[in-house]
Amino acid sequence: MESAVKLVDGVHWVGANDRETDLFENMWPLPKGVAYNSYLVQGRKTALIDTIKTVSGPPFLAKVRELLGGRKLDYLVVNHVEPDHSGILNVVRQVFPGVELVGNKKTAEFLLHLHKVTDGIRVVADGETLDLGGHRLTFHLAPMVHWPETMVTFEHEHGVLFSCDAFGAFGALDGGLFDDEIDVDEAESEMLRYYSNIVGRYSVMVQKALAKLAGLPVEIIAPSHGPVWRKDPAKVIERYRRWSHWEAERGVVLCYGSMYGNVRKMMEAVAEGLVAGGERRLVVHDVSRAHLSTMVRDAWRYQAVLLGAPAYDTLLYPPMAHLVDLFERKGLKNRLLGIFGSYGWSGGGVSALKEFAGRCAWELVEPVVEARFQPAEEALAACRELGSHVAARLRAQAEPGKT
Ligand code: FEO
Repeated sequence: MESAVKLVDGVHWVGANDRETDLFENMWPLPKGVAYNSYLVQGRKTALIDTIKTVSGPPFLAKVRELLGGRKLDYLVVNHVEPDHSGILNVVRQVFPGVELVGNKKTAEFLLHLHKVTDGIRVVADGETLDLGGHRLTFHLAPMVHWPETMVTFEHEHGVLFSCDAFGAFGALDGGLFDDEIDVDEAESEMLRYYSNIVGRYSVMVQKALAKLAGLPVEIIAPSHGPVWRKDPAKVIERYRRWSHWEAERGVVLCYGSMYGNVRKMMEAVAEGLVAGGERRLVVHDVSRAHLSTMVRDAWRYQAVLLGAPAYDTLLYPPMAHLVDLFERKGLKNRLLGIFGSYGWSGGGVSALKEFAGRCAWELVEPVVEARFQPAEEALAACRELGSHVAARLRAQAEPGKT
């Protein structure tokens, strides 16, 4: 999508699709690209809300220029200094001389160190309003959603919340900007992958930001990535409330690693136990092949996380070690946990998973199963039992009071 898109009178999307970058933050896959959303607000004065990562040819600046139609750009609101939104900030300053940057005290500090900006900044306080004439913009600090300086901007006349990373999603905009024009299921899945991997660690701060913004009459959520949400903004906000409180859907993600097929056999038995126990929503990932961001997303989505891996070098199988490290970094809470694995001439795999269980304080469902080399029938039976016990706990959580 290259053309400017009108959100409401005087407010346009002027962002850019990035279909070339493979990895967001050089870590997280972008199979369908990513959009850097920027918005132009025009009243008697004009303001650009954030910029984009790079100048991908002339479209971004050309769109802004064309919409301005010879008018001056008065302000550039810097909701977030991370380079995906401020990458071309100095280019914008050159192209629109005299444009005043708008940010908070922390923004100014970051702009100095990231972009060598020493002047031309209007420092605003939490809750301060800038009247453009026809559009009033109020700035609300939302620290750690996703960086300390992050703020969101609320446009009063039409209820547009420029929410920055909050409510953002991976994926380029394929011809449609609004949620009522696109495949929402895919966008929601990429929104959760974005939330869990980029913002999830700061869930407590997301809770605070949501509480702080609760009274705003939001009609349109205009994030810095992905679609603009106008169909049912309350539903989108509720989704963020659930994710930030680590609330999950019924279901299981089963992540396993296996070098010679032994843990894979155990995983198959666990899966059989889950299905025999009545569980129908089961996602299986091979930790050696699935991307970490997908497994983190699914662990954020589902109530139960089952982990199976062998020992390696007397320690935990490295791809599984990387995954559990990421779970801990992201601070995911309130999950059911099942553990199984194998060893040959040394332990170290299952014991490391048990240590993880102790640290993460998720509810450990018994039995923990460990087999030596090829799992014997006894171990496979224990794996089926683990699966059926997890299914029973999920049933109990879905129907409290029933056993
Ligand atoms: Fe989209 Fe935290 O940057």
